[in-house]
Amino acid sequence: MNRAELETLKAEALEQVGAAETADALEAVRIHYLGRKGLLPQIMKILKDVAPEERAAFGQGANALKLELTDALDKRSLVLHGTQSMGVNVPAFDTTLPGRWMPRGSIHPVSQVIEEAVRIFATLGFTVAEGPDVENGYRNFEALNTPDYHPSLDDKDTFWLGDGLLLRTQTSPVQIRVMEQNPPPVRIVTPGRCYRRDTTDATHSANFHQIEGLYVDRQVSLADLKGTLAHFARQMMGPEVKVRFRPHFFPFTEPSVECDFTCHVCKGSGCRVCKQSGWIEIAGAGMVDPRVFRKVGYDPEAVSGYAFGMGIERIAMIRFGIPDIRMLYDNDVRFLKQF
Ligand code: DAH
Repeated sequence: MNRAELETLKAEALEQVGAAETADALEAVRIHYLGRKGLLPQIMKILKDVAPEERAAFGQGANALKLELTDALDKRSLVLHGTQSMGVNVPAFDTTLPGRWMPRGSIHPVSQVIEEAVRIFATLGFTVAEGPDVENGYRNFEALNTPDYHPSLDDKDTFWLGDGLLLRTQTSPVQIRVMEQNPPPVRIVTPGRCYRRDTTDATHSANFHQIEGLYVDRQVSLADLKGTLAHFARQMMGPEVKVRFRPHFFPFTEPSVECDFTCHVCKGSGCRVCKQSGWIEIAGAGMVDPRVFRKVGYDPEAVSGYAFGMGIERIAMIRFGIPDIRMLYDNDVRFLKQF
């Protein structure tokens, strides 16, 4: 073989590169010329047999063939794999282009408050217990010491489903479920949906969320309840929040209280959100009524306990400064993506 034949070989090789239409075909060309048993290694092997005066030129020619062929193979490979734009061959993946933003969802403010509340109570030893949205009248009312002449049982207030079933009006029936199934002590929180026949306005919804708490053990006191809710308030709202208890009535607790937090927006000085009072009602609570304990087979002489139920939307609204409860259900992404 001589220089001229080498040039012919190069021309052939480059032509085959140009003619390859698939990556596989191109690879076959590469193997044919540059592969371990390909033509070029064989040519290199015969270099020593070339006449000494020709050897240098022949060697250079062989090297040039190798370089040009490699270059042509690379370029052709880009064309086959990639895209051709404005006559310039560019690879399919251009690492210098700015990334494309993927739209990212956010966690709904109601879910955020539930997750945070569950986390806070978990640090106090509470575990999560859940119950169904469809309850029976016994657990939602009677076992909670709410007699059947109580106005909350009225069709105007409760979604009755027939057969004594209803959409639970509160998360309190889960207290009954848990105590029916477990001997004391119990320490649970129950986040969940509740339903009431309320007309929707800026602060009311027919479907809202509560988180219920129940702690039953020996010698549980109202002071324990107060300490727990105050700790929760500081964790949820920040260290400057103040908590107050007002006497109240619930059928299933005795004594009963309502628990207010200082308004998150005005810090207690009075504003539109707290209707100038400086306080926002957050929870109903109290010491579990002995009649409730008897319904579930607990001995009210042996154990005592506290319970509470809080409105999740309330907390979300003051925590995030949301003026209208309906914004939480519209699911307008322009609103939701702010949280
Ligand atoms: N279930 C009550 C409501 O929906 C809130 C409540 C009050 C829950 C006192 C309790 C409690 O556990 O002890 O208004």
